[in-house]
Amino acid sequence: MKIAILKERRAGERRVAATPDTVKRFVGLGLEVAVEAGAGLTAAVTDDAYAAAGATVLDDPRSVLSGADIVLKVQRPLQAGEGEVDELGAMKSGAVLIGSLAPYDAPDSLKAYAGAGVTAFAMELLPRITRAQSMDVLSSQSNLAGYRAVIEAAALFGRAMPMMMTAAGTVAPARVMVMGAGVAGLQAIATARRLGAVVSATDVRPATKEQVESLGASFVAVEDDEFREAETAGGYAKPMSEAYQAKQAALIAETIQKQDIVICTALIPGRPAPVLVTEEMVATMKPGSVIIDLAVERGGNCPLSRSGEVVETANGVRIAGIGDAPSRVPVDSSALYAKNLFNFLSPLVDREAGTLAIDWNDEIIRGTGLTRDGQIVHPAFAPATAAAAV
Ligand code: NAI
Repeated sequence: MKIAILKERRAGERRVAATPDTVKRFVGLGLEVAVEAGAGLTAAVTDDAYAAAGATVLDDPRSVLSGADIVLKVQRPLQAGEGEVDELGAMKSGAVLIGSLAPYDAPDSLKAYAGAGVTAFAMELLPRITRAQSMDVLSSQSNLAGYRAVIEAAALFGRAMPMMMTAAGTVAPARVMVMGAGVAGLQAIATARRLGAVVSATDVRPATKEQVESLGASFVAVEDDEFREAETAGGYAKPMSEAYQAKQAALIAETIQKQDIVICTALIPGRPAPVLVTEEMVATMKPGSVIIDLAVERGGNCPLSRSGEVVETANGVRIAGIGDAPSRVPVDSSALYAKNLFNFLSPLVDREAGTLAIDWNDEIIRGTGLTRDGQIVHPAFAPATAAAAV
């Protein structure tokens, strides 16, 4: 069986879906690996390093994809008209595609995978069960995103983070507030604390209170009955009622005026991000304050944020919309992502038969599988009859 690793071509993407470490492991499982020349350069991996790990390095992406049984990607493949290479068009019918395929953002791509006869798996739909933790790309990437958000904030902030007592005077510690205490938010709290900031955080899931406090931050939230039931069985947040959102907004409005840095990470799967930092709240913040909005690609927790831009408001607040935070730590994010993919794929490899043995009754497969045998099969996207037939 042949695995293909392409250079990622979508704008701003610096990660790569395999590293020499995972290539070596795949070769150890009896697989052949083809890597596009230059695929790893933005993540500090040379073609020689891939070759030394046992991969065949090829210049033409079409040759890399030709005859490949498995295609590993970071972002969804380019289709005809999207760029210089029709990556999907160069995949063979029957190929297995694994990546962060963003099915909610690009629902039409599912029809294209089905039409091309490609069996596609979207890694961000992985169920959050213990067995799947080592494959969890959202966790591995969000963790680095939370770290990077604080580093970006520190770079935009015109003051220091820690308290410093010097002969020339005292520098006050920065006050950092983190919106959303999931994987990214908790790492943002930990990073801001390591830099010496005074940190607070808010979330709607009650389980986060203890996690926030154990990292040395204070927890700010409206803790009413709705809050006590705000977590789904899958561990995610539910959309909150308008009444709760109004109470939450009043509490945040009061807290936010005292902050120097606000890190926004709040998300609800498959929906627009909740608006937590309104234009009115931004207007009450001090000049020189910084907002980092990691939720910008889903509409943002702050309506003023713009993807890839730093917006400066009339009252001197800088708002950075950062949708590519993991890609700004490309070496580590690629290493963890590649390992997630290896952990997903390796149990499917039937070494003796030299094929993939995919068990469509397995909850990890059912949770991530988008298309199969020319049909869209994922329950969240399939027409009702096809979903029932899986
Ligand atoms: P996420 O990226 O979907 O959301 C980030 C955070 O925003 C969440 O904590 C959510 O509660 C919060 N949020 C949503 N609406 C909000 C609002 N209106 N106000 C304030 N905060 C709001 O979530 P993430 O970080 O991917 O994971 C959430 C949780 O899932 C984790 O903290 C963990 O408990 C669980 N998890 C379980 C895993 C496993 O068992 N394998 C692996 C990873 C996460």
